[in-house]
Order: sequence, then C-alpha cells, then structure tokens
Amino acid sequence: MTQRTLVLLKPDAVRRGLAGEIISRIERKAGWQLAAVELRTFDRATLEQHYGEHVGKPFYEPLLTFMGEGPSIALIVEGENVIPGVRALAGATDPLEAGPGTIRGDYATITRENLIHASDSPESAEREIKIFFPAHA
Ligand code: PPS
Repeated sequence: MTQRTLVLLKPDAVRRGLAGEIISRIERKAGWQLAAVELRTFDRATLEQHYGEHVGKPFYEPLLTFMGEGPSIALIVEGENVIPGVRALAGATDPLEAGPGTIRGDYATITRENLIHASDSPESAEREIKIFFPAHA
C-alpha cells in the first residue's frame, strides 16, 4: 500500500551529524522516496500542535524544550507501507529496548534524545503533514 509519513530528525540527530546517515537508511529502502525536506528550529506553537495529545504527561515539557533547542529536519517520505516501515527502522521509543540495526538501537541511549519521530498511523501522518508542510496537505 502506498502511503506517506511525516518524519522528524530531532535536534540531537542534526547536532550529532547523523541526519545524512538516517536519511540514507530511509532512502535506500526500495520504493521509498523523499517528497519534502526542511531544516528548521520549531517554535513552541508548532510543537504544542504536534505533541498536543501528550499535554500533562511528565515528559511533555522536557520533550518540548528539547525539540525547540536547535534545528530539526522535517521530511515527508512516500512509498510502500512507509508508515509502519519507518517506525520499524526507528526502533522502540526507549533506545535501550530498540533492537540492533534500528536507528535508535544503533545510535541512541536515552528516550528524550531518541533521534527520530515518525507518524504512527495514516490519520496521524495527514494531521502531522498539515502542521509541518501545509502546502503538501
Ligand atoms: S505514550 O504516552 O505512550 O503515548 O508516549 P510515547 O509514544 O512513548 O512517547 C510520545 C513522545 O514522547 C517522547 N517521550 C519522551 N520525551 C522526553 N523524555 C521522555 N522521558 C519521553 N518519553 C517519551 C517520545 O519519544 C515520543 O516522541 P516522538 O517524537 O513521537 O517520537
């Protein structure tokens, strides 16, 4: 099934020089392609929209602070089963539970700085694409 998903390479990925490596892993999957890419430091309003469902959770404020600390890279990726596919490539939210060969398993150690966000469903993908790439909605 051809899908599109919203991917964020978080500030730690850009700061640590891992953006190219992560994008390369995504691009090499057969049938997946980049449809939009932007480097930007997200403002508070954008992050509140994106993470609205987590308001009140203990990690909400630390997550928003971290996500606004420096530039991230937002991408739309299109292709066959790309929504579950990118999440599988990313690995578990807690990098200590992420398997070897996944982005978080290979390069991250703590949940806050887990390098990558990827939409978890077609509904989330469309909602998130509207936030980060309104021209592509
Ligand atoms: S939940 O409550 O199960 O829906 O949350 P979860 O899917 O595990 O995580 C939602 C996003 O919050 C990030 N997260 C954290 N950030 C900072 N610190 C801590 N402790 C933390 N725990 C979870 C997690 O990486 C998810 O962000 P995204 O950008 O969606 O990957």
